[in-house]
Amino acid sequence: MTDAGTPGASLTVRDNRTGQEYDVPIVDGTIRAADLGKIKTDDDLPGLAVYDPGFTNTASCRSSVTYIDGDKGILEYRGYPIEQLAEGSTFLEVAYLLIHGALPTKEEYAAWEHEITYHTFVHENVKSLMQGFRYDAHPMGMLMSSVGALSTFYPAARDIDDPANRHMQIVRMIAKMPTLGAWSFRHAQGKPYVYPDNDLSYTANFLSMLFKMSESKFEPDERLVKALDVLFILHADHEQNCSANAVRSVGSSQVDPYSAVSAGIGALFGPLHGGANEAVLRMLRRIGSKENIPAFIDGVKNGNERLMGFGHRVYKNYDPRARIIKKAADDVFEVTGVNPLLEIALELEKIALEDEYFVKRKLYPNVDFYSGLIYEALEFPPEMFTVLFAIGRTPGWLAQWNELVQDKEQKIARPKQIYTGERTLDFVPASQRWA
Ligand code: CMC
Repeated sequence: MTDAGTPGASLTVRDNRTGQEYDVPIVDGTIRAADLGKIKTDDDLPGLAVYDPGFTNTASCRSSVTYIDGDKGILEYRGYPIEQLAEGSTFLEVAYLLIHGALPTKEEYAAWEHEITYHTFVHENVKSLMQGFRYDAHPMGMLMSSVGALSTFYPAARDIDDPANRHMQIVRMIAKMPTLGAWSFRHAQGKPYVYPDNDLSYTANFLSMLFKMSESKFEPDERLVKALDVLFILHADHEQNCSANAVRSVGSSQVDPYSAVSAGIGALFGPLHGGANEAVLRMLRRIGSKENIPAFIDGVKNGNERLMGFGHRVYKNYDPRARIIKKAADDVFEVTGVNPLLEIALELEKIALEDEYFVKRKLYPNVDFYSGLIYEALEFPPEMFTVLFAIGRTPGWLAQWNELVQDKEQKIARPKQIYTGERTLDFVPASQRWA
């Protein structure tokens, strides 16, 4: 919502069914759906409702966390442009900013870093729980389940009205997510889980838990640590996206935050959301070489394929995150060598950006188009890509949840429906129907 609106502005609606006119106030560029509910043909019948599958034009909350202008390609966390945060901040500082609404002082940051570092370990029984998964379990399934399971380890988390208690759970979740993510990765490889090394930075510790073997101290390449930290920053929040909406929707029942965030992880798992970067890699591999791109593009235009990593509900311009990721990719490839799929991705982007089909629909590369190439260069298997997204998105989910539980206007999420089924059928018991 960008338009603050004109004070006293309203919309006059004439109901042609009854000839009656209604004045509907416009505030912040929106009208209240409840005001439309007053438009009725009969006092005993339900009022007018809005039909909006996928919430394409419905604001569900007021939020001061993240600002997006999709037409201009602008993304800001708490007012700070993503480009400046990616350039000069760290993921932990951005997490603080998202949760608290302002950048930390030196002392606040030191306390925050200490708290997060202190809570990276999980209860040993969480480890047993994770070890119970099949050898080929998808790490997102493991992450979703283990985050949900944390609610059983911290039953006090259900007291969501206590700010100190909420803070505790927020710290725990941001701190433990890399541990759970790394363990779900090690599990698939049959390697022992690595405990956190709290001398390392947030992101370096994550890399240590992923890749450490017998060495006494894991020393990651600082360029790779920086690149992954930037990727976490870019994914940290994106206002009312599918998973944030899932967290808010489940959280609106006043459940504990672990349950709400595990719902968010479930939403993120899908190929139209966080799973897209995994799908991009599979798509690039399937295309195989530059010569096959025109035939693939034809398939997209015929509706037989979807160009994964392109298009966005909000951005009708280049996704600002994709620009930053392209630069991070160069930094990573300097260390790891160029991912051979990059050539196909660059050519695909070039062709798509010039093609009428994509131009007309304003389809541009989104955050997922290049992130998978970086993750692969960092030796992550495609199944891990969405886990990385989830670790980055955790502060955003929690900032959205924290805002939700303090928002007096929020109610339990409960949309309406347009019923299309049968009515008042007479039930015949099975013994008679099957006789
Ligand atoms: N390839 C081909 N055509 C597309 C694509 C695509 N990637 N995305 C949209 N279109 C077409 C779509 O078929 C429709 O065409 P028409 O008007 O002829 O029916 C038009 O563009 C509008 O698309 P839509 O499906 O109504 O748009 P939406 O806002 O519902 O969907 C989206 C947004 C991201 C789900 C969609 O663009 C998509 O499926 N992209 C590929 C998956 C992807 O990369 N997802 C990651 C999103 S960014 C990470 C995140 O924030 O989760």
